[in-house]
Amino acid sequence: SIQACLFDLDGVIVDTAQFHYIAWREMAQDLGFDLTREENERLKGISRMESLEIVLSIGGVELSEEEKARRAAAKNTRYLELCMQMTPDDALPGVRRFLDELKANNISTGLGSASKNAQVILERIDMLHYFDTIVDGNRITKGKPDPQVFLMGAADLNVPPAQCAVFEDAVAGIESAKAAGMLAVGIGEASVLTQADIVIPGFENFGLPQLENI
Ligand code: BG6
Ligand code: MG
Repeated sequence: SIQACLFDLDGVIVDTAQFHYIAWREMAQDLGFDLTREENERLKGISRMESLEIVLSIGGVELSEEEKARRAAAKNTRYLELCMQMTPDDALPGVRRFLDELKANNISTGLGSASKNAQVILERIDMLHYFDTIVDGNRITKGKPDPQVFLMGAADLNVPPAQCAVFEDAVAGIESAKAAGMLAVGIGEASVLTQADIVIPGFENFGLPQLENI
């Protein structure tokens, strides 16, 4: 049975995915092209610098290494400015209740995020204390879809991968969970997260009984 639950951050705990999209789109428009919602799906779960490369390739824009670093930093400043409007009420519906339920049942919890801003965002929504371990973009050397992020989380919690469940909204994150040998719960649409073991729209009607039924 499941002994640990590992959560992605952006788009699972809190809807920061919309702020990433706004900030990348503004950069694209500044460079003279648009970034569609569909194109943005490819960026979910992907590190900041890799995302930048994808956005530039969509626009057919080439930049020097120096200019890339400057653009990535500017995107992050804008992203954090948008994030700072958030309050603890911005945690996605049902997510706190589910984490409380896990705690009450002695199931370990971990964060597995590509973001270097994970800690500051969890503090902003007052949810840092929910996680027994945090694996974020500052710790990993291989991004999703590599399984490293979730394997590190499982190792921190001392739980075998087969007894871990991962909650993810990104195609790359589901791939990462499956490559780690874990149960993958997709948050979003089944037509997008085709490799997930189950896909749910969110945590509102989801709890331990539903998890144990998968
Ligand atoms: C992931 C997001 O969680 O973190 C990506 O889905 C983002 O969109 C990545 O690029 C890195 O985030 P940050 O905060 O380090 O730029
Ligand atoms: Mg995500």
